Parts: sequence; structure tokens; C-alpha cells
Amino acid sequence: MLHLAAAAAVWLCLMMMGPVEADIPLVVPTKGSVWPKPQMQASEDTYLSISPETFNFTVANKDCPMLRSAMERYLKIMFPEQIKTRSRRHRGSPHSEHYRGDLKSVSLYLMAKCESMPYLHMDEHYEIKINSPDQPGVASIISPSIWGIMYGLESFSQLLVPDGDAYRVNSNQIMDYPRFSYRGFMIDTSRHFLPIPTILENLELMSMNKFNVLHWHIVDAPSFPYQSDVYPNLSAEGAWTELHIYTLADVATVVNYAAERGIRVIPEFDTPGHTTSWGFGQPGLLTECYNSSGVPDGTYGPVDPSNEDNFDFLSKLFTEVTANFPDHFLHIGGDEVPFDCWESSPKINEFMKEEGIPAGDYAALEDYYITRLIELVGDLPTKNGHLVWQEVFDNGVQLPSDTVVHIWKDRDDMDKVKLELANVTAAGFQTLLSSCWYIQVIHYGIDWYPFYECDPQDFEGTDAQKSLIVGGEACMWGEYVDKTNFIPRAWPRASAVGERLWSNPEDTKSTDEATPRLEEHRCRLLARGYNAEPLWPSYCDADIV
Ligand SMILES: *[C@@H]1O[C@H](CO)[C@@H](O)[C@H](O)[C@H]1NC(C)=O
Ligand SMILES: *[C@@H]1O[C@H](CO)[C@@H](O)[C@H](O)[C@H]1NC(C)=O
Ligand SMILES: *[C@@H]1O[C@H](CO)[C@@H](O)[C@H](O)[C@H]1NC(C)=O
Ligand SMILES: *[C@@H]1O[C@H](CO)[C@@H](O)[C@H](O)[C@H]1NC(C)=O
Repeated sequence: MLHLAAAAAVWLCLMMMGPVEADIPLVVPTKGSVWPKPQMQASEDTYLSISPETFNFTVANKDCPMLRSAMERYLKIMFPEQIKTRSRRHRGSPHSEHYRGDLKSVSLYLMAKCESMPYLHMDEHYEIKINSPDQPGVASIISPSIWGIMYGLESFSQLLVPDGDAYRVNSNQIMDYPRFSYRGFMIDTSRHFLPIPTILENLELMSMNKFNVLHWHIVDAPSFPYQSDVYPNLSAEGAWTELHIYTLADVATVVNYAAERGIRVIPEFDTPGHTTSWGFGQPGLLTECYNSSGVPDGTYGPVDPSNEDNFDFLSKLFTEVTANFPDHFLHIGGDEVPFDCWESSPKINEFMKEEGIPAGDYAALEDYYITRLIELVGDLPTKNGHLVWQEVFDNGVQLPSDTVVHIWKDRDDMDKVKLELANVTAAGFQTLLSSCWYIQVIHYGIDWYPFYECDPQDFEGTDAQKSLIVGGEACMWGEYVDKTNFIPRAWPRASAVGERLWSNPEDTKSTDEATPRLEEHRCRLLARGYNAEPLWPSYCDADIV
């Protein structure tokens, strides 16, 4: 799914021929706008002043450990060291007639029980009041859930505008909630290894853009970095080296770090294709391919469904995986299954005859495999749900009604993607879109417009069909991406996806309107210490630090 389209290369050449940047006007960033845009916001020119030395949050209702850690985290995010250093050289401006006093604390109202693990369809609403008519001079963040409180903290932190040593925050009332409950970001740690600090840094940036799912495409054909306790040979033989691995302790670090930020972690163990690296440590797993003389040619194809031991292996492996990744969902892949190796194999063809699978119908064999895999996943001790890539649906596999179908193909043909969205939702499946959000693909010039303009509900279908869209996912495939370029390539380009998945589409129709807000957001991420790349010719205060 990962090859750069030839079309992209042609496009790039066309772009390089003319003057590309000449007419881009200087972008004047907004001050204190929240990204992604809240559903409802009313703000005024009046403001309160905040001094970092004295400011703190107050637990006004229920307390919980995650609330405490979020408070501490946001104090650091709001008052980063480099801003303090810089501001020593600048005096704050004198107060204007809009000044309404100092804000010493924000009261946090957690209105329901404290949860510790995020989940699909969790409550993410929150409200912010700053110097509101009913509560003048004070500020509060109110939410039914810890997840909403965290979004409220993030939005509050974005409202602050530096002013010398202090900050100003305008009077505001925000009522906010996401448009979609699944706002994902996929990382690929098979084509290149990503060290844990890069993964954690990306989780921080995800939370700053209100993403709530890390889809961890942890293994694939090139390497198998997941270190299993039950099958240690998989990474011993399949990882790039014995150091390019994720231990179960690493997995726990990522899962907990993500949960602390309201982010679920869904691992993907893609089968039956994309499994070359699995074969080295698990003999018998993959189908032996035959050449035209009917002799094994030394290469291997997809998982061999004729070997009953393989289902036992997958069951044991996924029992361990799902015990360590607590989310309800497991992504089981199913994309790009090549049929030629199965076709070449006398063993496979014999097996199909025994099972009553029509000769030559390898899609039916895939159906057999995926059906058993889905049963197996539902029968794990943790009774998991599953996501599949779109081919599983396209190939006519009979799927249970709770399958989530993940659409990724045809990013150069959005009409086709819309048909696919219509087809999958017409069949009644929950649907996740990624086709238009392959963020590893870069172009010279401004290339976030198509991300922003893509809408997962923009297809011919009924309201019932549209309501089956659970959300979308930005995908960062790893062929040409590792720790050196991951963060700048992802951010702020993925921020465009973040706003599309969170905000009201009626209020976020225009890239022109988004431009000064995204400029501020990019400078904000830079000021927080992340190497978010520039969007156009411009400057940020944090450039000089
Ligand atoms: C903020 O308040 C909490 C208690 O509510 C306290 O534990 C913490 O030390 C305070 N932080 C600062 C920076 O004053
Ligand atoms: C791992 O591979 C070695 C040989 O390379 C084998 O002796 C051992 O049984 C394998 N372990 C497992 C758990 O399969
Ligand atoms: C198939 O493989 C065998 C063994 O490597 C070899 O002798 C034979 O020439 C191959 N046939 C073809 C058509 O490549
Ligand atoms: C959608 O379904 C129609 C009717 O079955 C079919 O003709 C079309 O090829 C499908 N489109 C896609 C993109 O799968």
C-alpha cells in the first residue's frame, strides 16, 4: 500500500517548473486561537492576566491520579522554559481598558467517575469558562470525564498569549466535543524502527491536536520488532537486530503514556500477507511457493491456512498481545494478499479441495482464513473486537456486524474512495477513512490543503450510512521515515487532519480561514520544543531560541 504513485512524481516535476512560492503572502498568525477549532466559542476583548509564578489549577470536584498528572503536565506545557528565558528581555505591555484582573487558578470540575483507560465512544465533552458573565473574574474547566478535562486543559493552554513575563487570556466560553470519536494516527515500526522517545514525543503532539488513537502497525514484512514472551524467536529472527525491538515493558510504557493523554493504542498484526519477517522465527507459518516445474523455489508467501498449527500459534500470540494492549480492538490487517504463491502450492490446492473451496478461488481461501482469524480474536480471553483493511470487505469475506472496515486505497481517485465509503456503510459496517491522509507522502509547496479538504462523510449515502463513519486516521508509513524526519513530516501536517476529525465542518470549510490559525498552532508547537516544520515563508518567536 506504500509505493509512491508515479502521479505524485509527475506532479512534483510540474510544480518545480514554475515560480512556486512567489505569490504566497505573509501570514499573520492569530493570537490565542484553539486548534482544532472548538464546536462553540464566544470570546471577548476583556482579559485576565496570568503570572506563571503564582498560577495553579484547583481540583474543584472529584479528584483522581490522572487529573493530578495532567495538571502538572499542563503547568509545564503552558510555561515552557524557553518562553521564560525569552521574556526576560521583554517587558509586558501596560494593561488596557480591557483588563479585568489577575487569574490565580482554574477550577477543574470532573463531574463523573475517574476512568483510567480511554475507549471508543468515551465521553469527550468539556466546557471552559473564563470571566464569564455568570462567574466574573474566575475560570473553570468542566467535564463529565477525565478525557474531557484533558482536552479542556489543552484548549486552555492554547488560549494563553505571552505578554512579557506574564500571559493574557481573553474572556471566553467554550462548549466543545469531537465530531468523530475515532481520531487516529498510524505509525509503522517495521520498515524503520522508531525509538520509544520518538513514539512518546508523537503521543504528546497527538494530544496537543486532540487525536485519541495510536494505531501501531508494529510488524510487517521487512522486520518484526515486537518481542514476544511466548514466541521469542519471532523478533530474535525477524527484527532488524536484537536491539531493534520493543519489549513488553516498552509496550507498557507506550500504552500508559498514551492513556495518560486520553489516547488508545491499537496494535496491528497484519496477516495473512505482509508477513515475510514472521517466517524466519516460526517455521511452517508461511506458505512455501513453488516454481513452474512444481518445485519449492525457496520463497514464502502469505500465512499457510492449510497448516492447522498456525491457528493455534496465532491464538497464543494474540492472547499475549491483547493482554499487553488493553484496548478492545485489534487491527488484524488483511490488505494486499497476493494469491500467486497460494496458487503455486500443491498443498494449498489439495487443502482447498478437502475443504470444498472452489478450485482457483483464492479469495474464498482468504475468506476461510480471515473468518477463522476473526473467530479466534473474538474467542481470546479478552474477547477483542477487530479492524480490517478494506480488501477484506472488497473480496467479499463474510464479516460479523461489529467489524470496523479501514479504507486506505485510491488516494489519487477520491471518487472511487467515495464509492467505497458508500459501499462499506451500505453494508452496515463501521468505517474508518485513511485514503486521503497518507501523510508520509510529501510535495514541494503547501501540501496540507488536500488533507484539510477531505471529508469522511462527503459521499452519497443516507444519514444512517454517514453515522457509521467512526472517524479517520492519518497514516505515516515508514519506508522513508525514521526518527530523523518523523516529527517534522508529521506536524503540523497532521494537525489539518486533527481539525477535520474534531471540528464542525460548517465552521472549517476554508483553508484561507484556517491558515492564520494553523500558523499560530505551528509556532506554538515549535515554542513547546517540537520540530514542527514550516508551512510557508514566515517566522515564529521560537525561531531564535
Ligand atoms: C498546584 O497545586 C497542587 C495541589 O492542588 C500541588 O500539589 C502542586 O504542588 C501545585 N503546583 C504548583 C506549581 O504550585
Ligand atoms: C527457537 O528456535 C530454536 C532454534 O533456532 C529452537 O530450538 C527453539 O525451540 C525455538 N523456540 C520456540 C519457542 O519455538
Ligand atoms: C524450479 O526449481 C528447481 C530447483 O531449484 C530448478 O531445478 C528448476 O529449474 C526450476 N524451474 C524453473 C522453471 O525455474
Ligand atoms: C461499489 O459497489 C458497486 C455495486 O456493487 C460496484 O459496482 C462498485 O465497483 C463498488 N465500488 C467500489 C469502489 O468498491
